[in-house]
Amino acid sequence: MAISRSVGTRILADVLMVNLGLLSAFVIRYVMVIVSSSSTDPNVLFSSYSRQFLATSWLLTIVIVGLFQGFGVYHQVRAYRQRFKAIVIVQAIAIAHLIYGFSFYFVAIFPLPPRGVVLLSWVICTVLLTGVRIARTAFRAFEESERPKTIAAASAQPRHVLVIGGAGYIGSLVLRRLLDQGYHIRLVDVLMYGDAAIQDIYSHPHFEFIRGDFRHIETIVRALVGMDAVIHLGAIVGDPACAIDADFSTEINLIATRVLAEACKGYGISRFIFASTCSVYGASDLTLDERSALKPVSLYAQTKLDSERILLELAGATFAPTILRFATIYGLSPRPRFDLVVNLLTAKAVREGKITVFGGDQWRPFVHVDDAAYAVQLALQAPLELVKGEIFNVGSDSQNYTITQIGELIHRLIPDAQLVQQGNDIDKRNYRVSFAKIARLLHFAPRHTVEDGVREIQAALANGQIGDYYDRAFNNHSFLISEDNAALLRLESPWAERLAVSRLSA
Ligand SMILES: NC(=O)c1ccc[n+]([C@@H]2O[C@H](COP(=O)([O-])OP(=O)(O)OC[C@H]3O[C@@H](n4cnc5c(N)ncnc54)[C@H](O)[C@@H]3O)[C@@H](O)[C@H]2O)c1
Repeated sequence: MAISRSVGTRILADVLMVNLGLLSAFVIRYVMVIVSSSSTDPNVLFSSYSRQFLATSWLLTIVIVGLFQGFGVYHQVRAYRQRFKAIVIVQAIAIAHLIYGFSFYFVAIFPLPPRGVVLLSWVICTVLLTGVRIARTAFRAFEESERPKTIAAASAQPRHVLVIGGAGYIGSLVLRRLLDQGYHIRLVDVLMYGDAAIQDIYSHPHFEFIRGDFRHIETIVRALVGMDAVIHLGAIVGDPACAIDADFSTEINLIATRVLAEACKGYGISRFIFASTCSVYGASDLTLDERSALKPVSLYAQTKLDSERILLELAGATFAPTILRFATIYGLSPRPRFDLVVNLLTAKAVREGKITVFGGDQWRPFVHVDDAAYAVQLALQAPLELVKGEIFNVGSDSQNYTITQIGELIHRLIPDAQLVQQGNDIDKRNYRVSFAKIARLLHFAPRHTVEDGVREIQAALANGQIGDYYDRAFNNHSFLISEDNAALLRLESPWAERLAVSRLSA
């Protein structure tokens, strides 16, 4: 596993502090013995303590750094709040000293360090290793608070909101919700899949539209002027769509997200809501929450996870990102998508009389697209203290289903269709998710069920609202690979030259 330069520096600093702590313990103990006992020869004691320090310090160092690594202290994502991290550090140092102190009783190859030294080292290492971290956090907070806020003061009550990628499936509902609530909305979208979803709101007095690519910094700077908050939904969405052109997807999903976040931070636009995905959990048999291990199994999920890490690293007094990890979405929106499992299986059941389920045992959490938009609204309106630097899974515990269960549910509602189980799915995702945190902190409770979603798709197909569900406009992957739209993948990249150079030197 590669170690980044910043993690390497932190490990080196910890190695030095552990050795300093142990050395100080020997020195203090040495002074105490010499002062209290006139019969002890200072030279003999000095050489005995020196030998003990040199022979044993490596063990304490390895155990502490190993435990820190195992407990996630060096991880980039702040899945734990700082105070939890401090508890983890204190625990790791205690365990390490117990191992250090007791190991010499069992393996007597090294001289046994005095118990007093072990105890002193325990205290000094705890003070040093936690104290330095607390001081660093406090210094960063102070530094942040001293930064001038140029465009917008970090506002607790945002009224002017920039939505990136709001012409899409989720965004087109977010826009309507926020406009209905009196927000002033500026949308930046390149309109990859057209503008059908926003045509009816162009003339809204509180709506402003910039057609542009958020990879371009000029577009971003122009769009940020006067804004209090940013909702970032823009991305190449879905595993198959992302896999078409890895560079293009990485540029949009990851690199441009970083630049956007840095611009927000520079301009003091604190509130930043980022659309991530439960796909970051990858494959696991456990029920996962926001602190669980992450195992993305696709480029799409990896770009989202890397973006989360970057945003949380940038968090500070003038930048307060909130990460929303959406479950798999279903239901109708002004920009419908039929590359999502519930919508696609329902459409196939209605139009082809067949519900084909691949594999079927894989678990997946689901949430209605309108509930996803509602969660964005809640995150925007929540007190900043409650949501800053936080990750929320968006969905509900009662909507974790296996794909087979989804097939059976659709079959119950559309009994004329035939349910067919077939082979394995190439999609490796399998995860059940806990949504307790968003329910507890934001009082989020979905207003729709999967049954509602199936019924509304069924009705839209029946009444002609949706014509050909196979239309490429409803499927991100099919749309992006189609010949006439492939040009989108060659949209001028602001980083083309740099990427080419880095590829040459790789
Ligand atoms: N739909 C889901 O099931 C789901 C699940 C989890 C997370 N998400 C996340 O939610 C967000 C929105 O998803 P969606 O389903 O609405 O996607 P979508 O594909 O319908 O919409 C994405 C929008 O982003 C725009 N866009 C893409 N690249 C752009 C660029 N460079 N500049 C400007 N605009 C750009 C597109 O034009 C489009 O309007 C995404 O970040 C996605 O990763 C979606």
